[in-house]
Amino acid sequence: MGDTPWWQGAVIYQIYPRSFADGDGDGVGDLDGIVRRLGHLARLGVDAVWLSPFYPSPMVDFGYDVADYTGVDPLFGDLASFDRLVGEAHALGIRVVIDWVPNHSSDRHPWFVASRSSRDDPHRDWYVWRDGRPGGEPPTDWISVFGGGPAWRHDPATDQWYLHTFAPEQPDLNWANPAVADAMLDTLRFWLDRGADGFRIDVVQELGKVVDAPEGVAEWPQGQDWPDGHGIMRRVRGVLEEYDDRMAVGEVYILDQARLASYLVTGDELHLAHNFVFLRQPWDARRFRDVIDEFTRLAPPPAWPTWCLENHDHARVASRWDEDGRGPDRARAAALLLLGLRGTAFLFQGQELGLPDAVVPPDRIVDIDGRDPERAPIPWERPSVAGPGAGFTTGEPWLPIVEDAERLAVAAQRGDPRSDLALWRRLIDLRRTSPALGPEGAQRMVDAGDGVLAWTREAGDERLLVAINMSDAAVRCDLGDLGGGPGRLVCSTDPDRPEGDEALRVLGLARDEGVVVRLG
Ligand code: GLC
Repeated sequence: MGDTPWWQGAVIYQIYPRSFADGDGDGVGDLDGIVRRLGHLARLGVDAVWLSPFYPSPMVDFGYDVADYTGVDPLFGDLASFDRLVGEAHALGIRVVIDWVPNHSSDRHPWFVASRSSRDDPHRDWYVWRDGRPGGEPPTDWISVFGGGPAWRHDPATDQWYLHTFAPEQPDLNWANPAVADAMLDTLRFWLDRGADGFRIDVVQELGKVVDAPEGVAEWPQGQDWPDGHGIMRRVRGVLEEYDDRMAVGEVYILDQARLASYLVTGDELHLAHNFVFLRQPWDARRFRDVIDEFTRLAPPPAWPTWCLENHDHARVASRWDEDGRGPDRARAAALLLLGLRGTAFLFQGQELGLPDAVVPPDRIVDIDGRDPERAPIPWERPSVAGPGAGFTTGEPWLPIVEDAERLAVAAQRGDPRSDLALWRRLIDLRRTSPALGPEGAQRMVDAGDGVLAWTREAGDERLLVAINMSDAAVRCDLGDLGGGPGRLVCSTDPDRPEGDEALRVLGLARDEGVVVRLG
């Protein structure tokens, strides 16, 4: 592997702690629950986990409203449980990446409590306060991401407005204030010292915002890619480089790959960035091909690709691509899309089970932004065996469990070679053992006909073809056109396809099937 950093070949598994495993029966997942289920992750073969926030929080945005950057909410455990989790994960060879939410804190964070107390408070300038415009109007027309109302809230105590890009309970920190930057960077060191292997950084694109437009400009457009964000990422990188082998992956939610790449190409900002252009594609081979080609062109080394199709903010693939009931097959083929491409692969808990979104009745909605369905708890056991909590909890789960938990539970899939879980294990194992699929393996997109997304991976004398049929019908591709001899089927996402070792000259692909073929 030479000098390849660990994260380049990694498969990273996102844990949403509230919904992963409940160790104490209160219906909400916790860190001890995660420790108990680490065996599942080790058997799956993941290299690292990314934990969504577990910090003390009033939970207005379920932890993305942080009231203490260096603590653990009692709901999830305490610092000792975090240390245990890191120790046990490391013993299994699993690294631990944690979420860092630097754009905003909770309104209950002591910094904000002080900041709002008086215009003269030393923490006043730690947040973004401005006078309103005449007529009681907010300082700018910026809109909050949640709810679509103004991104400013008037605070009567001091008669000024504070900025909240998200909920009013999530005031934006003022990164232009060097004291904020220093204090926040220290929180990174706190977790790095405790053994965290890296950070997923929330809403990177917002950090460098400049509120005050220059003379003659009425107002800055909101949500642009603020240049100062790059300087902040350089400082974050500097902190990580005080330690060995740590990694920062940014949630850079910009639907423009050139701007995304700008956080990666200089090699002194983020190591990785989630690519939401990729994540948001419809099931369309041409579209995926264009995105992959464009990223490859725009992001030469030292930039490195990251592929991700699900997280806690987006409908699950099995539901999102479910036209004509094809979601489950496509979710299986999507495993190959993530794991077969050159780059770091991120999956979201439950994706390895092919979970769809859960049905959340109106009286059980808890999220401010409609994201409950993808956050439903993991069904570990069959409800017929473990009761309605499906092994997630012995109590009342905070969100409903997916409807088909009897069939989708980990225990139901574990011994079944046709299951999604078996497929994910197999593909992760293949990626680990095949040099061509590893970070050193070259990648070339190939034309395999309309509706088929295909590419080769090559290292040494190993040459593999990955092909996914995203069209509406079965197709046949002539492997001779790909410049090799006959191929041999290594793996298919279609559980009904027998794995013969026969030489393939023409590759037949069922609708929504993906295959790995060893080229002669
Ligand atoms: C990110 C998180 C999302 C959260 C938001 C505000 O987009 O992924 O869950 O609500 O930031 O912190």
